[in-house]
Amino acid sequence: MSDGAARVDAVSAPGYFISFEGGDGVGKSTQARLLGQWLGELTGREVVLTREPGGTELGKELRAAVLHGQDMDPRTEALIYAADRAHHVASLVRPALERGAIVVTDRYLDSSVAYQAGGRELGADEIELISRWAVQDLMPDVTILLDLDPAAASARIRRQHDRLERAGAEFHRRTREAFLARAAADPERWVVLDATTSIDDLQAQIRVDVAARLELTPVVEEAEDTVAAEPDDGFDDTDSAIGYTPGLGLGLGPGAAGPATGSGAA
Ligand SMILES: Nc1ncnc2c1ncn2[C@@H]1O[C@H](COP(=O)(O)OP(=O)(O)O)[C@@H](O)[C@H]1O
Ligand SMILES: [Mg+2]
Repeated sequence: MSDGAARVDAVSAPGYFISFEGGDGVGKSTQARLLGQWLGELTGREVVLTREPGGTELGKELRAAVLHGQDMDPRTEALIYAADRAHHVASLVRPALERGAIVVTDRYLDSSVAYQAGGRELGADEIELISRWAVQDLMPDVTILLDLDPAAASARIRRQHDRLERAGAEFHRRTREAFLARAAADPERWVVLDATTSIDDLQAQIRVDVAARLELTPVVEEAEDTVAAEPDDGFDDTDSAIGYTPGLGLGLGPGAAGPATGSGAA
């Protein structure tokens, strides 16, 4: 398939597509939320914060089936993830990118390749093929891998562990290696960060890397405020109630505050 064309497609969309990857407990949800909030303020664009699996209403049912349902064979599992992803991209991600939004997703197809090929012994090529087919080759403009030892990540998760989280140390070690190998093979798309650092330090590094990769331009009338803001401004509300609302942008940016701003795209 045409990898080159896929990249051009994603980049030439008016919006930006950012994915977070890594094991459970590395800090993806925390960092995605903080980054989305900052990007909205910086650019004035609409920000859509979403996740896989389960970023849509249908996706929530598929997520429940795959994470909390009965055990299933690897092909069934791979196809459920692909179905979730196809619907997520067609109904939420692509429309948002087309209207100029910044889409930040907590996991994307790299998770399928890393977990299912790295961990479950299906071929990486097969998983990548069905995943790419599912999304018609839409790839993120930038992917942030939060890398952390699985034992340290697991210690951060206080709630009851789901089916994948219980899968065992060797499974999680292989998955981590698969993420790192994938990132090393495509350094143009990936940013790999050591996730042992504090939430604030990690977020500051992510902002630097994302702004550089996407060549983001601050919204003009907000530029003074935004640039003058403290580096750790906005970090205090880590535990705020902002969560995932399938199908909804979070309206975090000033551009989303009033209808007059339109898509916010320049
Ligand atoms: N850099 C960090 N250092 C310490 N704890 C963190 C860090 N990032 C996140 N956490 C905490 O670890 C837990 C898992 O974080 P979360 O963002 O939900 O990870 P993920 O989405 O990757 O599973 C949360 O309780 C969160 O507050
Ligand atoms: Mg999470």
